[in-house]
Amino acid sequence: MYKLTEEGKKYLDEGLPEKNLLEILKKGKTTTEELKEKMQNPAVAINWARKQGWIKIKQGEIQVDKEPKEYPQQISLQKISKGEDLTKQKTEELLKRGLIEEIREDIVKQAQKQLEKEKINNLTPELIQTGLWKKANIKKYNIEAVGKKKYPGKKHVLSYYIEKVRKVFLEMGFEEEEGSYVESSFWNFDALYTPQDHPAREMHDTFFLKKPRKTKMKNKELVKRVKKIHEQGNNESKGWGYNWSEEEAQKLVMRTHTTPVTVRKLQEIEPPAKVFSVGRVFRNETLDYSHLPEFTQIEGIVASEKVNFKNLLGYLKEFYSKMGFEEVRFRPGYFPYTEMSVEPEVYVKEKDEWLELGGAGIFRPEVTEPMGIKEPVLAWGLGLERLAMMHLDLKDIRNFYYKNDLSLLREAKINI
Ligand code: PHE
Repeated sequence: MYKLTEEGKKYLDEGLPEKNLLEILKKGKTTTEELKEKMQNPAVAINWARKQGWIKIKQGEIQVDKEPKEYPQQISLQKISKGEDLTKQKTEELLKRGLIEEIREDIVKQAQKQLEKEKINNLTPELIQTGLWKKANIKKYNIEAVGKKKYPGKKHVLSYYIEKVRKVFLEMGFEEEEGSYVESSFWNFDALYTPQDHPAREMHDTFFLKKPRKTKMKNKELVKRVKKIHEQGNNESKGWGYNWSEEEAQKLVMRTHTTPVTVRKLQEIEPPAKVFSVGRVFRNETLDYSHLPEFTQIEGIVASEKVNFKNLLGYLKEFYSKMGFEEVRFRPGYFPYTEMSVEPEVYVKEKDEWLELGGAGIFRPEVTEPMGIKEPVLAWGLGLERLAMMHLDLKDIRNFYYKNDLSLLREAKINI
């Protein structure tokens, strides 16, 4: 048996070059130069057409001499493609021209054997190569029948979402930083100018560690500076006006936000600098449809002489827009460590509702000065699960952690 070579296939589809040449010449004579623009392989075409005595060339001009009634080789190509036989002479002609090639005998035999079966369920390489599939009685398929659902392994939706957030900040030129879940009160609160009698520092808001209960602060100078800021303020402010206790600052907590990660980083950076962190935080909170005692925060800072409040809003808008939320608004907010402060909210079209997403502001000098930073520092801490909830149209935030509902993992689609 024989099959078409690549060239043979091409000529079957596009016509033999000599055939194409004659079609062109029927419209009028032409020169070899012009021909180059009108067709592929003009040399091959001229050669073959001449051999058959179909054309003549006079003073560089080509014209029809004797128009053929049919093109035998074109018919041969068609026959081969249909799996029909050719005469010995015709076969040799095409073989010599490189338009067909022999199929290995064992392959032909295999294909023929497969063909003996009453019904063919699968197309095999042998049937395809020999073209014998055209003669096969192939089993019919109902292509509209619903297939069995497959649930291949994939990332948890939250992991996917966290990676997306990281990608967005990396794209915006931020450097990533990590911290630990267990943090000293010093870094979680005091370094953030949160007074020691602040309600957030009480047992019902914060998880304190029993064992070990405390940690020692190594940087005595820094502790002194923070103590002074709390007690007396700086050149422009009066501080909180109480006796700051180092003992209180030593108490270990499960971090209640990721702000200590970026605040620690303030000691290292040399503005301009942009840092972000994505991580788990812990709050002694009652679980309900929109509250989790553990959730993920997206933290970020931009420290530069050149930045201002408008830039802060710009960064937040840009972030949310990259996450697929076009409408963002800002409500005035309050945090002990920022001034001015805002709470960004995004608009959820389907629900015609604004959803609160976290906090942001410019760090107060009472935070940045003890860390040795003089430039303004924009800062934010944003909730992640609530955003993911909206993308997935979930009614209950507990779905992510407590429901263990496999269908969430199987069906979840986040198109960002
Ligand atoms: N830490 C704040 C929170 O957890 C968010 C925040 C971060 C606010 C940075 C201002 C600046 O709600």
